[in-house]
Amino acid sequence: MKLSVCLIAMLTVAAATTAMMREGPAADVPQLDLAEWTPPSIGSAGDDPFGKLVKYGYALFTDTPNQIGPAAADPAKRFSRSSLTCQNCHLKAGTQPYAVPLMGVWGQFPQYRGREGEIGTLEERINGCLERSMNGHVMPLDGTEMKAYLAYMKWLSTGIPDGAKLIGAGTKSIKEPGRAADLGNGAKVFADTCASCHGKDGLGERAEKGPGYRFPPLAGPDSYNNGAGMTRVLTAAGFVRHNMPFGITFDTPVLSDADAYDVAAHMNSLERPVRPNLDKDFPNKLQKPVDTPYGPYADDFPPAQHRYGPFDPIRAKVQELAAARR
Ligand code: HEC
Ligand code: HEC
Repeated sequence: MKLSVCLIAMLTVAAATTAMMREGPAADVPQLDLAEWTPPSIGSAGDDPFGKLVKYGYALFTDTPNQIGPAAADPAKRFSRSSLTCQNCHLKAGTQPYAVPLMGVWGQFPQYRGREGEIGTLEERINGCLERSMNGHVMPLDGTEMKAYLAYMKWLSTGIPDGAKLIGAGTKSIKEPGRAADLGNGAKVFADTCASCHGKDGLGERAEKGPGYRFPPLAGPDSYNNGAGMTRVLTAAGFVRHNMPFGITFDTPVLSDADAYDVAAHMNSLERPVRPNLDKDFPNKLQKPVDTPYGPYADDFPPAQHRYGPFDPIRAKVQELAAARR
């Protein structure tokens, strides 16, 4: 029974907060540990129209450059400008806990997004990764490709209750060292632990055939742009510590928290494509994550501190500003 849904009805902090605000009875929020959950395998997708769409979505997710990237046969479908695949970050086709898995994501949208300052749909979220993580541009909402991505994510979420609290979603946080990231140590960790696959400059290693990569680029013109979630040092450190070097998982990390923090900072100090108009993100600056590497900010801390920490002083200041505004 290990793989059955572990539907522990429990009060999450969110539910408790909402209950306090509304002073009504608290809703029971089901909780699911993705590490205990077996996602459906792609081989089991059917040949009916929905199953076919799921399989197309899987192909888009794992073979992105050929399908909707620089090598797509139809130039109108070259939505991604990089040669990354979605799976390069959403590991194992979006089924690896703490590698931003997409199991259950279907039931988490629409949701409020601070970056846009409004309620966003799953379609917008997918397009967000396309524009930033893939350095591309948006797909039409009614196109077959968008429908295929949605079908794949709906199918991956089969059996997971809408709105469940998902343990293993996103990335796992590191224990933050109370200091600025050390770029010198980061470069050293990179040379010792990452360069063998991703190259000494982080530009990756091309696949023997086709447009993609054997080891994807972490920097340079073919990587994620400076507006991507991965450019936040805490997000990147959490991803790297719990997924890299390739082959480890969140429960078998090899890097220390401090080394992950430093190497993430090094990685994000390298050059990458620049996305215009990032100053329009986070209309409410108080909702901007403290490690967002681009301004403007609600506080007066220097941009370098937002990129590399330490973050506790920034958090304290943002809290103070938010309290003053209430
Ligand atoms: C053994 C080879 C190997 C090593 C060593 C390795 N990686 Fe990776 N890395 C990969 C592969 C392969 C992927 C893509 C996984 C996939 O598509 O399934 C990846 C993906 C990534 C990604 C997301 C995709 C991208 O291009 O941005 C990041 C970030 C990353 N690695 C950072 C690191 C860092 C930092 C280190 C060193 C601490 C490291 N990796 C060490 C092989 C490796
Ligand atoms: C360079 C790494 C990277 C690549 C490549 C990437 N993503 Fe993401 N994606 C992330 C990160 C990191 C997050 C979550 C953090 C954030 O909010 O920025 C995320 C979040 C998401 C989410 C929301 C997940 C949730 O739990 O709410 C969806 C959906 C998504 N990505 C879809 C895609 C699709 C589809 C592609 C390919 C077209 C893609 N991503 C490519 C890094 C990446």
